[in-house]
Amino acid sequence: MTQPLNPLVTELEPDRILTFRKSLSNYSDLVYLTFGEPGFASPKAVKEATKKAIDDDRSHYGNSQGELALRQAALAYLKDRYQLNYPSIDNLIMTAGVTEGIQAIFKTLLTAGDGLLIPDPAYGSYFAALSLAGGVALPINTAKADFKLTPALVDEVIASATVPVRAILFNYPNNPTGVSYSLAELQALADCFERHDLWVISDEIYAELTYEGHHQSMGKLLPERSIVVNGLSKSHAMTGYRLGLIAGPLALIEEIQKVHGSSVFSLPTFVQDGAVAAFKMDRDELAYMIDGYRERRDFAKKELEELGFEVVSPKGAFYLYAKLPDKVNLDAQDFALDLAKNGGVAIIPGTAFSLFDEAKRYVRLSYAADMATLKAGLARLKKYLAKRKD
Ligand SMILES: Cc1ncc(COP(=O)(O)O)c(C=O)c1O
Repeated sequence: MTQPLNPLVTELEPDRILTFRKSLSNYSDLVYLTFGEPGFASPKAVKEATKKAIDDDRSHYGNSQGELALRQAALAYLKDRYQLNYPSIDNLIMTAGVTEGIQAIFKTLLTAGDGLLIPDPAYGSYFAALSLAGGVALPINTAKADFKLTPALVDEVIASATVPVRAILFNYPNNPTGVSYSLAELQALADCFERHDLWVISDEIYAELTYEGHHQSMGKLLPERSIVVNGLSKSHAMTGYRLGLIAGPLALIEEIQKVHGSSVFSLPTFVQDGAVAAFKMDRDELAYMIDGYRERRDFAKKELEELGFEVVSPKGAFYLYAKLPDKVNLDAQDFALDLAKNGGVAIIPGTAFSLFDEAKRYVRLSYAADMATLKAGLARLKKYLAKRKD
């Protein structure tokens, strides 16, 4: 066959986390502190509702934008949790996880050569989705400001951009740093986004995993220009259900729906029934997970600091982004490989999340796994560091 393939695909760099995990496949008996995979089972009410839906033959095509009962439950959830007052269920699209939602949004907002601001470090799969949409990443180096996005950093990158800047992809609590923002900080950023006339794609998938105070949504501060993405993967330990949502202004949602409808058509109906049960759960019913993650965060942070890591203050999500102890004479990639080989622990080098040099001294540790796994991993890390001769 001599026909060329689409260079946007053939030249796409494979996902750096998956590539790194592949490079670990030679090592056996590893403790994995790598993925953002909740160490809890999905809630019982969700499982029951899903099983019932299958028994009731809820196995046909559903409403393309999301079943009405699901969008009603999601609308009420967004209002209850984050005071988001969308006028109607037409302001929502239910997606196959945030992952699909982000692709549909990029395809709708961007044409080839358009710039998207991405506070860096960031969740790696944004970059692939952006390349496939033909967009240009304009990374903002938050390492310069304790990993917090500031209006000054945004202004600086926009001032030097050589392509039209259409939007920002803002993720908080952040993967990989766990950084989140006070209302005053968000307000200052919202004013800045407005001043630059940006669309704001606000990835709030970790909103419920906020350990001090409550998450404040960009959708509340900038309802006319925010596209909020959220879902059940992390908050409800439902990564395998693939259930996300997009919420935003009606005219824009109608355009995004064209992309979602043509690529997914509709989500599995029985998954949507399970998701209704999830959205109807009270915050109190899920508190055991949040309390569990908070305890793991506090434990892991203390342990890492005692070992000489400098940990970025984690307000949410379930990751610690930590600077290697000064005495370690390897960059993050080599350190993570050596730790797997000689210490039996898998963590991810910061370079999987960042285009900037600072990341070469950082690693991300996920504390989503259960406490026993976390303890075993940190004990191995301690032993490994004690043996190292830098
Ligand atoms: C910031 C962020 N957004 C989105 C996702 C993917 O979410 P979903 O499972 O809803 O596709 C992840 C998964 O780790 C993430 O860290």
